[in-house]
Amino acid sequence: MSSRIVKIFDTTLRDGEQSPGASLNIEEKIAIAKQLEKLGVDVIEAGFAAASPGDFEAINAIAKIIKNSTIASLARAVKQDIEKGLEAIKPAPRKRLHTFIATSPIHVEKKLKMSYEAVLDAAVDAVKFARNGCEEVEFSAEDATRSNWDYLCKVVESVINAGASVVNLPDTVGYTTPQEYYELITYIKNKVPNIDKAEVSVHCHNDLGMAVANSLSAVLAGADQVECTINGIGERAGNASLEEIVMAIKVRNDIYKASTNINTKEIYRTSRLVSKLTGIDIQRNKAIVGKNAFAHEAGIHQDGVIKEKSTYEIMKPEDVGIDSSSLVLGKHSGKHGLEKRLVELGYQLTKEQLEDIFEKFKVLADKKKEVYDEDLHALVEDKIKFSPSVYEIVSLQVSSGTNITPTATIKLSKNGEIFEDAALGDGPVDAVYKALERITFVKGQLKFYEIKSITESREALGEATVKVYFPDIDKNIIGRGVATDVIEASAKAYLDAINKALMYIT
Ligand code: KIV
Ligand code: ZN
Repeated sequence: MSSRIVKIFDTTLRDGEQSPGASLNIEEKIAIAKQLEKLGVDVIEAGFAAASPGDFEAINAIAKIIKNSTIASLARAVKQDIEKGLEAIKPAPRKRLHTFIATSPIHVEKKLKMSYEAVLDAAVDAVKFARNGCEEVEFSAEDATRSNWDYLCKVVESVINAGASVVNLPDTVGYTTPQEYYELITYIKNKVPNIDKAEVSVHCHNDLGMAVANSLSAVLAGADQVECTINGIGERAGNASLEEIVMAIKVRNDIYKASTNINTKEIYRTSRLVSKLTGIDIQRNKAIVGKNAFAHEAGIHQDGVIKEKSTYEIMKPEDVGIDSSSLVLGKHSGKHGLEKRLVELGYQLTKEQLEDIFEKFKVLADKKKEVYDEDLHALVEDKIKFSPSVYEIVSLQVSSGTNITPTATIKLSKNGEIFEDAALGDGPVDAVYKALERITFVKGQLKFYEIKSITESREALGEATVKVYFPDIDKNIIGRGVATDVIEASAKAYLDAINKALMYIT
């Protein structure tokens, strides 16, 4: 057994949310924070409180709910940012203020236009000020990997003296390499005289595809904390992926001689939730959580796995929460059978939710004969919404074909009242979206549209994802919808986005 625990600092809700295309509402952020707590992350960086009132509100709400993970807010090394951050995290039983300033020549001279002495003073002042309102303060030297190492040592020593209990050395632009990062961490640990008074944290971006390798190299050099995101989402090419770091440390315990507090069985569920709510797909061959991560295609491999799983599997799908038993449900499966399977898949549903899913399951089983776990995940995820369903689809009729103008007629209900309208469009989906806008009086611009099948058969469920820009609220919103009919799935996705937009309008 390993003796050393490497702490996992999850920044999905802060750096991850900075991914191009990701935008989460407060309910979605709370749902992710709760799942991260279940996953067992040590720290949840819930946002950047001074960035916007929405960010502040989300951090504050998460701080009131989460009990077991530390809640952190990011803040620039300026008083107003730190005040906002401190206020946002106040209700949390465990809290941390995370402040940063850049230390590299390019940032100090060209971006901040400050002297090195002024940067050092700002870092020290920020930590001292933050310590007045929070016992746990983390300091990050932005762009540490392109900074002068001796200057970095001076900054790190000074912020520790000022009261920082965690010092983070980010590879902000994904520039370093495993060898170089190992040497940097080793240098800091050897040269900073008071380094034993603080934890050393690492934070890597993936611009050269080395974020996970660099983070693991830092673990070998003695880093105490790794900052990462679910599915590796984040600025540009993303951050280091939490699931890959955690599983590498677990599977190669012989190398890393460490462990984490992560309940790895919650990895898959967390990954799906983040992907669904951010609208950022997981590539099929993504390590640990991709659709193909545990699939064996080659005959020789299949033969080997049948004889002995460890021939081609270095970890079990169950270790990350993927149930690989091939139980298939069908139209003769009863409610108890469905409930049992849903519980096995990790869902705890209310009676009403189960009734509703059972109805949908029956309709699907009638069309599809065999219902797989992927279908069940999609049905449940479609049901559990993190925003109120203001409008719901009652009926949808679309006519389209060669040489006719596509027309959609839609009936929606809102608080028991029925609204109906029709519209023409350039295509059937366009006609549907125009009709939805006419009924709801909410206008959007479709920025992204995707439809994919959940499983591989003609009758498979289709899952539509849209990103819609709503000029009235100046927001991009993700919507999702699932149905066996692709036009219906597309309509549900657009209406999901409209319903979310209405939360800001009304
Ligand atoms: O990449 C980075 O440098 C950051 C810091 C603000 C921690 O995200
Ligand atoms: Zn970052």
